[in-house]
Amino acid sequence: MAEVIVVENEDAAGELVAGAIRELITARPEAVLGLATGSTPLPVYRAFARSLAARPLDVSRVRGFSLDEYVGLPDGHRESYRAVISRDVVAPLGLTPGRIRVPSGDPAGLPTAGADYEQAIVDAGGVDLQLLGIGRTGHLGFNEPGSSFASLTRVKTLTPQTRADNARFFDSPAEVPIHCITQGLGTIMRARHLVLLAFGHGKATAIAAAVEGPVTSSQPGSAIQLHPHVTVVVDEAAAGRLTNLDYFRYAWANKPAWQGI
Ligand code: PGA
Repeated sequence: MAEVIVVENEDAAGELVAGAIRELITARPEAVLGLATGSTPLPVYRAFARSLAARPLDVSRVRGFSLDEYVGLPDGHRESYRAVISRDVVAPLGLTPGRIRVPSGDPAGLPTAGADYEQAIVDAGGVDLQLLGIGRTGHLGFNEPGSSFASLTRVKTLTPQTRADNARFFDSPAEVPIHCITQGLGTIMRARHLVLLAFGHGKATAIAAAVEGPVTSSQPGSAIQLHPHVTVVVDEAAAGRLTNLDYFRYAWANKPAWQGI
């Protein structure tokens, strides 16, 4: 069963997860982070940046692999996930740009881009801690409903719902690419620790399906039930449809301090 931690707000989630990342890097300066884009992980990056400003830590050897990228956006487009990761993660945290990878959405390289990315993750020794958001469709990364639990990095077609959800980042809905390249659910499941965050009522159904629903590729988030180390960090609104909420609160309130998340 995933550990579910209900926090007061996004800032509290950010502090909690940034603390875990700090501990990881302190123990292992070459830690490999699985990075996510979208609004959800931003409080984590902000909290970690504050933590680094208050108490410096050498993050120069940290490696990172982002989950996904749009296909076909012009080089340097400000909403390409490469640009987003540089702006929201690499620059504020002072990571080493050459050690942070994002899948390539360049159409010319797509036939080999997935396999290249998988090999780079293996060569880095695998991901230690993978940050995840969840889409309203239940997607992890851009693995839309129906994605195989064994899938690896490949091209996918975004659902109209996901394109509409992401239209807020673009000048017009039509500008949101239809295709993406995303780590597969099989790739994500190889990470040693999954940290799934979700905030707001709009995510409550997807979170309940991921944590408590049947394990099915129709709900890609439910793949987390097959992973041995998952931490789900949600606010009250996103936790609103969980049946075992009392138990999750009880378990967290009684967790031995030495265990961490
Ligand atoms: P969001 O997206 O963080 O912008 O809500 C999450 C996702 O689509 O995985």
